[in-house]
Amino acid sequence: MSLLDLRNKTNDEIVSILDLAIEFKNGKEVDFKRKKIVANLFFEASTRTHYSFEMAAKRLGAETLEFYPTNSSLEKAETFYDTIKFFESIESDAIVIRHEDNKYFEQLNNIKVPILNGGDGTNAHPTQSLLDLMTIYEQFNTLSNLKVLIVGDIKHSRVAHSNIDVLQRLNNEVYLCGPDQFQEEELFFVDIDEYIDKVDVVMMLRVQFERHEESLNIEKEDYLDMYGLSKERYNRLKEDAIILHPAPVNRGLEIDGDLVEADKSRIFQQMNNGLYVRMAVLYNELK
Ligand code: CP
Repeated sequence: MSLLDLRNKTNDEIVSILDLAIEFKNGKEVDFKRKKIVANLFFEASTRTHYSFEMAAKRLGAETLEFYPTNSSLEKAETFYDTIKFFESIESDAIVIRHEDNKYFEQLNNIKVPILNGGDGTNAHPTQSLLDLMTIYEQFNTLSNLKVLIVGDIKHSRVAHSNIDVLQRLNNEVYLCGPDQFQEEELFFVDIDEYIDKVDVVMMLRVQFERHEESLNIEKEDYLDMYGLSKERYNRLKEDAIILHPAPVNRGLEIDGDLVEADKSRIFQQMNNGLYVRMAVLYNELK
């Protein structure tokens, strides 16, 4: 069963993936009867998701096929569908896909091999959301009844779109903040300075310049003061509050560069948890 969007998973299914990820972090080992092959197809740039899926596959004893679009028959006008069909034809056991199109997977209903979504356009980033939840759980020993402030480029962020849904479903209070340009009509936005000292989790988002149709109408030098995590705002955080950011980080824009490794930052813990979450979701498909 593919993992395309957490919106298709029940809360119990999500908790069960996190339990498995924690088991892997605690040293769980697996031994498949035959060598499994995971194909990693990244049609959009990635460091964390791509290489942690690759590492996760290797840690499970699987081998990976690494696909690079610019050195493939896409250059000879082969379609996206036929490319995926090829990786099914050579008997891949699972296919990881990142693509710039929202819901690219709706074209792949005929593909029988499990697909793990490594991020689709602005729609969903299920494994990022899972690793965010795992990091929250490690801090607070719960996934519910927390106050979470998500700040920045909400409109273009698949991380925000996945997390808003799942955090609300798990019974958390979710507050959103960002410039008008990054707001969405159906969502309610608050002032960062009214909430920064009241929340348990501050999730900063990368400004996604590559997805913008118009240029940012705030000077880059002003963005940190207006909407970013500055040192002044950091000093107002609750004692046990934590900072999350999916990375890559625009240091000095959405977050002061000195705060990336500050005490309350869990940014590199998120990356570490990304390995175990991806081991868990791969294991579920390969076992
Ligand atoms: N957070 C995240 O998805 O990072 P990459 O784009 O580097 O995979």
